[in-house]
Amino acid sequence: MSNDWQKTVIAALNESRSAELAAIAQYMNHHYEARGLDSVGVKDIFRKQAIEEMQHAELLAERVTALGGIPTLKSAQVRRGGTVQEMLRVDVELERRAVARYKEQIKLCEELGDSTTRRLLEDILMDEEAHAGYHASLIE
Ligand SMILES: [Fe+2]
Ligand SMILES: [Fe+2]
Repeated sequence: MSNDWQKTVIAALNESRSAELAAIAQYMNHHYEARGLDSVGVKDIFRKQAIEEMQHAELLAERVTALGGIPTLKSAQVRRGGTVQEMLRVDVELERRAVARYKEQIKLCEELGDSTTRRLLEDILMDEEAHAGYHASLIE
């Protein structure tokens, strides 16, 4: 049985997991659908990032389970791109939301004294900041 602080952390982790599940689908879709000269190179980056988001979703699920919760299977909303530039724009938005959410959740874990989850989220935050920066650098 999870106690109160564990339930709060589980809910936060599952919220992030839903966003990660959406990111996986969004990036794989962009990997398949990217067309044109613009897509050379970035197509493979979309796939690589989808795999990194899968690792995040898995880490979150493992921590949810360790705290006595059930990892969610519900995905947040997935956005299609269109042109490669449009794909990059929706991806930057997704990554910036992820950065903001992880920062909030890190603060929450600090308040609750859950340093294990805090450290896990800090590691994921490093990846999301790199994703956001990379996508932003490709927008014309
Ligand atoms: Fe992620
Ligand atoms: Fe990301």
